[in-house]
Amino acid sequence: MNISLRQLKVFESVARLLSFTRAATELHLTQPAVSIQIRQLEENVGLPLFENIGKRIYLTDTGKDLYGVCETVLGALSRFEMDAADRRGLKTGKLRLAVTTTAKYFVPRLLGPFCERYPGIEVSLKVTNQSSLLERLAHNEDDLYILGQPPKHLAVKAQPFMENRLVMLAPPDHPLVGQRNIPLQRFAAEWLLMREAGSGTRQSTERFFAERGVAIRERMTLGSNEAIKQAVMGKLGLAVLSHNTVVLEIAVGQIAVLDVEGFPILRHWQLVYPAEKRLSVVAQAFFDFLNEPAEPVAGPAV
Ligand code: PGA
Repeated sequence: MNISLRQLKVFESVARLLSFTRAATELHLTQPAVSIQIRQLEENVGLPLFENIGKRIYLTDTGKDLYGVCETVLGALSRFEMDAADRRGLKTGKLRLAVTTTAKYFVPRLLGPFCERYPGIEVSLKVTNQSSLLERLAHNEDDLYILGQPPKHLAVKAQPFMENRLVMLAPPDHPLVGQRNIPLQRFAAEWLLMREAGSGTRQSTERFFAERGVAIRERMTLGSNEAIKQAVMGKLGLAVLSHNTVVLEIAVGQIAVLDVEGFPILRHWQLVYPAEKRLSVVAQAFFDFLNEPAEPVAGPAV
């Protein structure tokens, strides 16, 4: 077989994204150019690597095997390139970060000073909820993960790095605003707006109420923090969200934080990666950067 590195790179992108169009965009190629590379690769292998079912493409068993080979070969090559660059005194390469939808409110601001310090590092950021993030982690799709709590069922290394306070939110004219130490039991009578199943915020909220024997009255499930904030402002109900997601709304008085018994729910953001993984030079650089003593995130004081 005469498989070229270029063919492997094109194949890896199509196999990961399961789309010729998205692979073409990622690789800055035209779609026909991607198709030609894949066709030549399939001719080399002598077997199809993808199959079309309906409008979607899937990896064949041979395709899955080759994808595993790509991870090993391209991963080793990229680690070698980074190590070599590191020895030359440069930190260059790709950093693939995946963060929960709640962490997206502060992670991009951390990336500013990081990218300024290491201009040779190219960062890609995947944002998704906790359950799909854990799936990506189980499949080793990214270098580092940022989420609200380390997974219990996966062998990982987890490093807490910044406080994450979950707060009870209300519209500013709600009768409970301004009251002190409101008993948790009071919320059995209030409508709550909840994130979707699979959200870490939802999981923490449910666990907090269940452990204290208070039943939640769920008014509505909303699939994003933004939708929940708008619904709180629209007086559809109260909600528990990470303080990181509502800093600006609180600062301008559009949303109020209630003083509730047991709140805020105190947690720490976690920087996580598979236990058996050897971090690349750039992933290690980001890991060290986040663990520097100074608090690098600046936001409006509330
Ligand atoms: P999510 O994130 O609610 O957006 O899933 C919060 C978390 O990681 O706990």
